[in-house]
Amino acid sequence: MSCVNNSTNNGKIVFFSGEDIPLEMHKVRMVQRIQLLPVQERLAAIREAGSNTFLLRNRDVFLDMLTDSGVNAMSDNQYAAMLRADDSYAGSETFYRLSEVLQDIFDTRYFLPAHQGRACENIIANAFIKPGSVTVMNYHFTTTKAHITRLGGTVLEVLGDASLEIDSDLPFKGNLDIAKLEKTVNEAGDNMAFVRIEAGTNLIGGQPVSLQNMREVSAFCRKRGIMLVLDASLLADNLYFIKTREEECRDRPLADIVKEIASLMDVIYFSARKLGCARGGGIMTNSEKLFKKMRDFVTLYEGFLTYGGMSVREMEAIAVGLRETLDINVINQTPIFVEALGKELQKRGIPVVTPFGGLGCHVDASRFVDHIPQEEYPAGALAAAIFIASGVRGMERGTMSEQRNPDGSERLSEMELVRLAVPKRVFTLSHMRFVADRLGWLWENRKLIGGLKFEEEPETLRFFVGKLKPINDWQERLAEKFAKDMPNGI
Ligand code: F0G
Repeated sequence: MSCVNNSTNNGKIVFFSGEDIPLEMHKVRMVQRIQLLPVQERLAAIREAGSNTFLLRNRDVFLDMLTDSGVNAMSDNQYAAMLRADDSYAGSETFYRLSEVLQDIFDTRYFLPAHQGRACENIIANAFIKPGSVTVMNYHFTTTKAHITRLGGTVLEVLGDASLEIDSDLPFKGNLDIAKLEKTVNEAGDNMAFVRIEAGTNLIGGQPVSLQNMREVSAFCRKRGIMLVLDASLLADNLYFIKTREEECRDRPLADIVKEIASLMDVIYFSARKLGCARGGGIMTNSEKLFKKMRDFVTLYEGFLTYGGMSVREMEAIAVGLRETLDINVINQTPIFVEALGKELQKRGIPVVTPFGGLGCHVDASRFVDHIPQEEYPAGALAAAIFIASGVRGMERGTMSEQRNPDGSERLSEMELVRLAVPKRVFTLSHMRFVADRLGWLWENRKLIGGLKFEEEPETLRFFVGKLKPINDWQERLAEKFAKDMPNGI
């Protein structure tokens, strides 16, 4: 299998007509039936779900763009590998196969398996966070922050100011600002636990970190003796942007770039629901000391050291999926479809995060529904409205996804986004056009959308299972208008 593509156009096939559209570099051999319910049934479904798209049932969803987590299409080779999985509580051959692949790709000696990304975060937090600890990162992720704050630690963010601007042409909005990093670390003093770089920075729109920035952060951490952790869950998208936006990497093999990134870090962890396109996770390091600090938490929370809560079938699929991550024609699939969708939305005047990132297309709810105050969860309201208008399930990434301040007051998010995730190799170009078409209708009717309020609000990670209510009958009015505008109410 040729995994590394060195061609200068990074695998992009150009159309003679000059059209700029994404091309699938795979064929579809198995399909899953989906259905688009009429608008009144969509309305009933979102009401039943407490206006929270996490609580919708899949049978009611047309295009599931909630996340790319655990729902990327797997390859024929991944399925084939699953059949040879070696099931055993201890000493499974599958574990050694996966460890070897990781060592080969990342040059790391030690591997701790865990059942998904947040399980790695739980282990890392338990090993390195105590009350008063400070962690510094480009930006938090929901589960990362929850694990750190639960143990009495604090999360401080050091993105550059311009990274939070929605309309931008900054190629690496995920970069850490070195001056801010230095200042924050100085202030933290002895409480400094670790610095964390999140590849493909999720909550600001799947925005990448440059290799050059990783080098600078690593040099700073090494000089100051601070542990550097990479969250590699979204590394595949990030690698694509390093290859296509960082001049020095244009002709460099992906395998080489990954090895350099890994050499800059002390600990790397990943959700294999994203990286490797299966379901699982793991932590890698070259330090025996760090490995031993984390190891006991694997046996305590996850399972024995040779499976860590994962099914061995998934581990086999991850091993193959990780190797496929070094193929530009595999990792380009999300970014090129995100861009295609983003451009269609822009054509209709819909505000989206730019430059287009990985993971999904991010709609700016603060402008889409600028009449809804942040306390009424504009991004949550827009996600519910999108479902009513299209059967498309997106995800709120705004104030609903924040945790309240310790005094119970609302912590308003810096961004109010609805993420329309693009799982790898799952949707086609006509699906993207459908999404843009329905959002175009919604954009024209945006004033009908109203706010939400919590009816049932969990204390931790409330966005997952919290239930909300519309502040008035706006959802009914939106559905009625849709039924009037669309020929058959679908
Ligand atoms: N880190 C990042 C950057 C993530 O995006 C995620 C998950 C995790 C850690 C946690 O991994 O889900 O396997 O426990 N992101 C998913 C998403 C949930 O939809 O963006 P996990």
